[in-house]
Amino acid sequence: MHSEPQVGGALARADAVAKRLVRLEVNGAGYELAIEPRRSLLEVLRADLGLTGTKEVCLLGACGACTVLVAGRPVLACLTLAVACEGKPIVTIEGVADGHALHPLQRAFVEKGAVQCGFCTPGMILAGKALLDRNPHPTAAEAAEAISGNLCRCTGYAQIVEAIVSAPSLAADTPGQPLPGTLDSGPYLMPELGE
Ligand code: FES
Ligand code: FES
Repeated sequence: MHSEPQVGGALARADAVAKRLVRLEVNGAGYELAIEPRRSLLEVLRADLGLTGTKEVCLLGACGACTVLVAGRPVLACLTLAVACEGKPIVTIEGVADGHALHPLQRAFVEKGAVQCGFCTPGMILAGKALLDRNPHPTAAEAAEAISGNLCRCTGYAQIVEAIVSAPSLAADTPGQPLPGTLDSGPYLMPELGE
């Protein structure tokens, strides 16, 4: 005889399969999280770990604002399951600076005026960093290709490409120096204002 499943039992079974214990390594720190397998890496980074530097925009894989590095490769966190990242090092924008000292690419973005509203910037930085990590002296064409999946509504892209190409020489000229306005030197002030 067919019997209807108990509602409570169904809910209990759903709950039993809903979450999985996952170990993630984000910006060098280990996290053990009980998460539903359907959740995106973007959701987990922002909601569970409080790493809101990774931006949530289209959620369709169309804008690149959610770009992070997984095992050194740029991925769209909105289209990546968090559980699929277990055992792979993840780098978000919060992990790019060295303490209070900005990464040379971050400094280049400021110096070249590649940041306006800033909403695309974390994804742009990670896409650019992935390129520089495998190709320390990219051409402008290579830089443009590296950010070709990232949309920017403000800059027109030229400053972003220029920042990526110039970052290696900036690193060589002024290694390890924080920009004015980082936490080492007080409130943020634009360098071109001379303050
Ligand atoms: S939010 Fe992921 S690509 Fe737009
Ligand atoms: S700086 Fe505004 S979207 Fe790129």
